[in-house]
Amino acid sequence: MHSFTQLTALFEERFIHEAPFPGAPNNLYAPCTYLLQLGGKRVRPVLCLMGNELFGDIGPDAWHAGYAIELFHNFTLIHDDIMDKAPLRRGQPTVHEKYGLTAGILCGDVMNIYAYEQLAKVRTSLGQILHLFNKTAIEVCEGQQLDMDFEQRGDVHIDEYIQMITLKTSVLLACALKMGALIGGATEGNADKLYEFGKNLGIAFQLQDDYLDAYGATDKLGKQNGGDIKANKKTYLLLKAMENANREQRAAMEQLLLTDGAGKVADMLQLFSDTRADLACRDAVALYSRRAFDSLEDVAALRKRKEPLHELASYLLMRDS
Ligand code: IPE
Ligand code: IPE
Ligand code: MG
Ligand code: MG
Ligand code: MG
Repeated sequence: MHSFTQLTALFEERFIHEAPFPGAPNNLYAPCTYLLQLGGKRVRPVLCLMGNELFGDIGPDAWHAGYAIELFHNFTLIHDDIMDKAPLRRGQPTVHEKYGLTAGILCGDVMNIYAYEQLAKVRTSLGQILHLFNKTAIEVCEGQQLDMDFEQRGDVHIDEYIQMITLKTSVLLACALKMGALIGGATEGNADKLYEFGKNLGIAFQLQDDYLDAYGATDKLGKQNGGDIKANKKTYLLLKAMENANREQRAAMEQLLLTDGAGKVADMLQLFSDTRADLACRDAVALYSRRAFDSLEDVAALRKRKEPLHELASYLLMRDS
């Protein structure tokens, strides 16, 4: 059995070699290699490997599925950064900033197809795995669309927000775990319980991502600080601040949403803390983490075997990068 750190190192070592892009056309493939070599936490493939190792030894199919999911994730980041007009990713200029918009669109497309090429190498339950992957990929697009739609809306409810982040982020973590489990021969029931764990963990993870976008340090996070506020993203922080605000505070926030000025981020952060939305967001992370750990309890596997999942989940929820 491997620890979280060991699996991350093993994945990192093999990943770049397994997913080599051809040299030409350079303008298509150089941006792909650029992003992959900037690193990232690699949590999704590691979840897939852990889901697999919960039920047996890690086999080649789990590696293929892991590569596929990390390629798919990186593809979504390229397009997400275009949609979010983000200048920084993993501490460096985003793909579209460095190579231009058309390169960003097309290298995202091709990376997605390379993800499917990796998935096609899976031999165990390929039909079921492909269906799960496709369903998840569609959900991610749906979540991303809702995220964009919400920028324009002033009446987003917290339940809608949770649904949106479930789609855009958490189902991919859940899918990674379930694919690993199915490849490892888990029963459908156990694979579904693991999926539930991933879903709750993914919700906590995105809540944390929103929190760090507002309060994290750019040098640690590798992303622009306050990007969500600048883009009028309807994050948990903003929705909770609106809910808790008195009339004056609400008017101030509504005014800030109409502006683009230099003080927007600082003023909004002040309102988040005045309305205790920052604390509410941390509570929500804790709530979904508890739910995740409860779901993990339900998985019928030896407690010792679940330790790496505990390790990974704790790391994710404590992270500052
Ligand atoms: C960023 O994902 C996108 C979200 C769903 C929040 P990660 O925080 O896993 O990004 P990397 O892969 O580690 O850079
Ligand atoms: C991204 O959510 C989700 C996907 C990439 C599907 P965010 O837009 O919050 O992710 P970051 O903060 O840019 O990494
Ligand atoms: Mg983004
Ligand atoms: Mg986004
Ligand atoms: Mg974010």
